[in-house]
Amino acid sequence: MLKSHNCGELRENHAGQQVTLAGWVHRRRDHGGKVFIDLRDREGIIQVVFNPQVSQEAYQVAGSLRGEYVIQVAGDVSPRPEGTKNPKLATGNIEVMAKEAIILNPSKTPPFYISEDVEVEESLCLKSRYLYLRRPRMKDNLLLRHKMIKFIRDFLDGKGFVEIETPILIKSTPEGARDYLVPSRINPGKFYALPQSPQQLKQILMVAGFDKYFQIARCFRDEDLRADRQPEFTQLDMEMSFIEVNDILQLMEELFTSLAGATKPDMRLLKPFPYLSYKETLEKYGTDKPDIRFGLELKDISDIAANTDFQVFRSALDNNGRVKGICVPGCGHYTRHQLDELINLAKSCGAQGLMTMAFTGEAITLDEVKSAAAKYLTPRQLEEIAGRFEAKPGDLLLIVADKLEVVNKTLDELRREMAQRLNLADADLLAFAFVVDFPFLEWNEAENRWEPMHHPFTAPREEDALLLDTEPAKVYGQHYDVVCNGCELGSGSIRIHNRQLQEKIFSLLGYSKEETESRFGGLLEALEYGAPPHGGIAIGLDRLVMLFAGEGSIREVIAFPKNQNAVDMMLDSPSYVNKHQLDELNLKLKHEVLHSQ
Ligand code: AMO
Repeated sequence: MLKSHNCGELRENHAGQQVTLAGWVHRRRDHGGKVFIDLRDREGIIQVVFNPQVSQEAYQVAGSLRGEYVIQVAGDVSPRPEGTKNPKLATGNIEVMAKEAIILNPSKTPPFYISEDVEVEESLCLKSRYLYLRRPRMKDNLLLRHKMIKFIRDFLDGKGFVEIETPILIKSTPEGARDYLVPSRINPGKFYALPQSPQQLKQILMVAGFDKYFQIARCFRDEDLRADRQPEFTQLDMEMSFIEVNDILQLMEELFTSLAGATKPDMRLLKPFPYLSYKETLEKYGTDKPDIRFGLELKDISDIAANTDFQVFRSALDNNGRVKGICVPGCGHYTRHQLDELINLAKSCGAQGLMTMAFTGEAITLDEVKSAAAKYLTPRQLEEIAGRFEAKPGDLLLIVADKLEVVNKTLDELRREMAQRLNLADADLLAFAFVVDFPFLEWNEAENRWEPMHHPFTAPREEDALLLDTEPAKVYGQHYDVVCNGCELGSGSIRIHNRQLQEKIFSLLGYSKEETESRFGGLLEALEYGAPPHGGIAIGLDRLVMLFAGEGSIREVIAFPKNQNAVDMMLDSPSYVNKHQLDELNLKLKHEVLHSQ
């Protein structure tokens, strides 16, 4: 080994020992005849002092060091003199007095600071990923990810789960996104699909009798990217036989609670995890992935609005819409400019406008309320509205009158925006919750057909099965979501384990007999050989690590993520391939694509 210790592991009890360290020059300071180097490795940072009175040679080497040079240093660990200790560093009570130093490899000047966590243009941190990953924050994130995965593996092993890998070259599994396709050379004209999830395979493992399966599974989805979406991501994928909804949810609560205790002891959890019905969560928060760390709950004032002369309210209600809003404490003083920002935000969500009502006075009266709606309200109606929101003088109401979906989407956005502005969400709280009682199907207006609310393998609630033929809209599914701090963390369901019912659902979803057979024949056949009742869940592992790390994007917890256009900027992928490779795969590119190469 080129080193005897890690930089970050040294403490006061090492004082007096001679150590050899190897790492990167994090910072270099030249002070009155001595050079101070912060030396960094994976375990942390230590101060190394180059004093010509200790070693003239080492001092000479220090003179030529620059940021990110890789060096080896030998010297004695010594307590720092009083007044020079650094409580911010774990090694801050000691320093190493360099006796020998060797430059193992110099470095070009990096295109951004490694030692300071200042924002870097995204393309730079993706292109020079190896440098970005050197930042202590990124290193901590990946180490946290490692610890979390290790904990999960041990936890599930302790509960009798078996980790089984499933193939990456498979057949399309519908999870609502486009597939990534891989052409087969040996089978001209045929394609594999990369798994959007191992859904069908984990169900088949239950038919095979494995009882409790898990996998840290790579999934691939060709969909529009966002801060919490990557084309290639990782799931903690699980499936169990002979279980019911509560067994899975209780296991998840125990897993998340002990995982947080082991890896993030300073973070708090809401215990027990709340169970929210899908209907309730949409009503209260406008979304099925609510951030329940703060209030600002949506209130419906459609009944009050219906009796007013205010045209905006009336016309929304006449078109089967709703009037809902949120009450933001203490924002009654908002300026025209601030209100316009909120109105623009509402419009960007598809709302026609936003009705603001500011209670600027000492009391809530029509004279003291600032709102375009005020002149259409009676004092009694104003009182009713304020009462519904439990508004106080100084508060601001944000009200949307529109179709219910638009109202909910807009108020969800405004609720999160205002919580951010007012710093209402406790950063140290992981507010997990289960969303349950989902409808089984969702009507796709544009395509005039039913879609599964989760995926087509989800079982309907047993007591609703008869309604499938008569009133499918009234059927509930045995489907559940885990949400945390406004993020959809995972989904799962009890599955259909009977061929007839599975075929019936495919037909309800509009699949022809031939399509059903060609896409799902393998699973359907497996269901005929004594498939046990089973169910499972998949947790977005990147999202889970993101929440534990306190990051705003999953890119900060993935070593090599892709950019917004699904491009790996470091390796420059996807890239063109040569004609020979295309010929081998029996592929021909369209003329215009060829032209642009
Ligand atoms: P679902 O499609 O809901 O369910 O996915 C489960 C979880 O995976 C995460 N996720 C993503 N994370 C990052 N980037 C993406 N593009 C992305 N897409 C999904 C989310 C999501 O909640 N087979 C079913 C699960 C089951 O029924 O057991 C499934 O994949 O956190």
